[in-house]
This record gives sequence, C-alpha cells and structure tokens, in this order.
Amino acid sequence: MKHNSEQWTSKIGFILAAAGSAIGLGAIWKLPYVAGTSGGGAFFLIFILFTLFLGLPLLLAEFTIGRYTKKEAISAYREIAPGTYWNWIGKLGVVTSFLLLSFYSVVGGWVVIYLFRSLTVNIQVMETNDFGQMFSDTISNPFLAITAQFIFLALTILVVQGGIQKGIERSSKIMMPILFVFFTLIVIRSLTLDNSIEGIRFFLLPDFSSLTGETTLFAIGQAFFSLSLGVSIMVTYSSYLKSEESLVKSATSIVSLTIFISLLAGLAIFPAVFSFGMEPSEGPPLVFIVLPAVFSSIPLGNVFFFLFMTLLLFATLTSAFSLLEMVVASITKNEGEKRRKTTVITGIFIFIMGIPSALSFGYLSDTLFFGNTFFDALDYLVSNIMLPMGALFISLFTPRYLSKSTLFAELRKGSRVKLYVLQIWYVLLKYVTPVAIIIAFLHVVGII
Ligand code: TRP
Repeated sequence: MKHNSEQWTSKIGFILAAAGSAIGLGAIWKLPYVAGTSGGGAFFLIFILFTLFLGLPLLLAEFTIGRYTKKEAISAYREIAPGTYWNWIGKLGVVTSFLLLSFYSVVGGWVVIYLFRSLTVNIQVMETNDFGQMFSDTISNPFLAITAQFIFLALTILVVQGGIQKGIERSSKIMMPILFVFFTLIVIRSLTLDNSIEGIRFFLLPDFSSLTGETTLFAIGQAFFSLSLGVSIMVTYSSYLKSEESLVKSATSIVSLTIFISLLAGLAIFPAVFSFGMEPSEGPPLVFIVLPAVFSSIPLGNVFFFLFMTLLLFATLTSAFSLLEMVVASITKNEGEKRRKTTVITGIFIFIMGIPSALSFGYLSDTLFFGNTFFDALDYLVSNIMLPMGALFISLFTPRYLSKSTLFAELRKGSRVKLYVLQIWYVLLKYVTPVAIIIAFLHVVGII
C-alpha cells in the first residue's frame, strides 16, 4: 500500500486548513440562531463544555488514526483492523460528507448571492421589512438558488483539484487570516453600537432556567458539527501531516480558534440585534435578514455587509473543501494523477444530489419527506443520525484497536504532553464520549 505522497507544507498550514474545515456555517450561522432561540449564554456555555470534553478528545482520536496510518480514512481503518467491518466507519464518513456537502452548498450559494448583492444593492435605502422579502425571494427562486449553488461548488472543485498544498493549504492560508481580520472589524463595530451591552449580556450571561434536555443535546450535536467530527475528515486531513508535528498542539489550536470564532460570531450579531430592538430568536434567517437590516441603518453599512458576507463565504468554502476532499481522497487513494478528474466528477454528482435541496424552499416546498422538506429531512438525517453515529463508532473503535501505548506514543510525537493529560483524554474518549452520544441518540428516537 502506498503512503501518502501529499503533505501539508507546515504545521500552520495544517492548522489553518483544519480550522477552516471546522469554522463554517456551524459557528457563524447555526450557533447564533440556535443560541438565539435556546437560551443565549447558557447554551453557549454548555456548547463550550461539550466542545472541550467531548469534541477535543474525539478530534485527537481522529488525528491519531490519520497520522498513525498516513492513509485516507477507509484505508486507515482497514490497516488498523484488517479483515473486519470497521472500515465501514470510513465508508459511512464518505457517504455522509457527500450528502452533507450537497445541502451545505445550497446555503453556500445563498452566501454567494448575498456577497454579490453587497456590491450591487444599496442597502441603506431599504426598509427593515424588505430584507425578509429579499431572503424569501432569493431562496425560493429555483434558477437563482441552483445557479448560486453551482458557483459555490465550482469554486470548491477548483481549489480541491489543485491538491493539498497548492489547493487547500494555499487558499486556507489566504482566506483564514482575512476571515479573522474582517471578523474583528465587524465585532468592533457591533460592540460600539448604542446599547450593545444588552446583546453581550444575552450572549454571555448564562440563564440556566432556559436550558432543557432538548437544547443540551442540541449543544452536543453542535459541538461535533462545529469541529467537523464524526465523518473521519480529520483522519484524512491529519494523514497529510508530518510525524514530527504535535497532534496535541494542533488540536488545541483548532479547538481554541473554533471557540474564538463562535464567540466573535455571537459578539458580532447579538449586540447589533439588541441595539436595533430586533428579536434574537429569528431562527435560520438571522444572519441573512436581521444583520443586513442592522447594517442598512449604520454609516458605511454596505461596507460592513460586504465584509461579513466575504468572511462567511470564506468560512463556508474552507469547510466545503474538507467535505469534498474526504470523498475525493477515498476514491483516488492518493494516486495524484486521478485527482483532477475525480474531483470534477464527484463535484458534479454532489451538485446533482443537491438540486432537490436547493429547490426545497420554492418548487419543492410542499413535497415532504417524513413531514419535512427534502433539505430539512436530509439535514436531520445527516446531522442528527449519521454524524453522531460516526462519532460513536470512532470513540468505540479507537481504544479497542489501538493500544494505549500506541496511542500515547503517537500523541507524544513532537510534544511533551504529560502522562496524566493523556490518561484523562483516554477516559473521556473511551467512556464519557460514547455514553454521552448514546444518551443523545436515545433521546432523539424518543426512548428517554
Ligand atoms: N464544521 C463545518 C461547520 O461548522 C461543517 C463541516 C465541514 C462538517 N466538515 C464537516 C460538519 C464534517 C460535520 C462533519 O460549518
């Protein structure tokens, strides 16, 4: 079997690409609206706890599997547990990534449309109500939705076919720093609005009375989704990492960056929402309706609108790269000559798969699957069933097939992490993570 011929050029390149995968619609779009509807600060706090105590251990497990074998996910499981069915974790991951990207790219398309609008529409002359209309017109227009989804996927294909170093790493190194800078500008603007303190209070002061079992489980799902866990993407990404780089340091940097961006997202959005007397519980349209409405009434609003849509596009694209890479790597198995063609063909299939999702807000809005639109049904299947299932299997697989000494040795390469830290990690991975996921599952299917 071939070892990976492709490699990240540097640790920072890897960290930015992996953080790019993690930071996306989950942190910037989903987290604020879910926090907005489920208790603000309390939700954010338990999200951080789950990210640290369930997400980080699982991220380290995926990293260890990838770097230890230096193979893409399916081959990695096959090498560690030959002759067993465990490589189906990788296969499940490939199918999940494929489906996830098919509807993720629909929202990516909306971002493309909004970025274009930030350059062509003068939002300062629009009324608050116009933004709701603009959003529903956008997502229900079949031609617009599909074209935008196509453009988003074309950009993703263009980068991924360039390979790990020249495609994903290079573009992440450009996009991620820009994302951080633009976000900082937006947060400064938001925090200096009148009455911003109320938004800060809503987002950061926990009110535990608003937490329910439901929202707690939601926070677990959000923690996994936000770190791109459960589909073995982080196995594939870490397989391109040199052995002398520390996995522990990389993982902590990625988790810190993700939490930091989630914090910035809340600090950008809630002060603005409260300052203009709007509702934080708008749901999914929060960043597409409320935010532009707020921007429309501040000086230089169009500029901030543009900055926000640019950073949202960059965040969404770098996540999409990882989803496509997961599928492509599993097919090419690192035979470089196949990459270009495989990426394009896979991308086309994902586009076709995504069409019903793109039409779910217009043409197909009345065609229901289990009482949901196609988009919502697929999102439910992927986010609430396939992702947690993948995460559960990984947490069961790792301690079973890799001995403690092998795991600890891999995690100690390039770092002097203390033994007791690794012991805590092991316990969290082997016992706490699977139990938490099983409880969440039982709840979702209605048993508890
Ligand atoms: N983490 C990304 C986000 O928050 C989405 C994502 C990319 C993802 N790859 C993933 C989610 C793999 C789950 C699994 O937007």
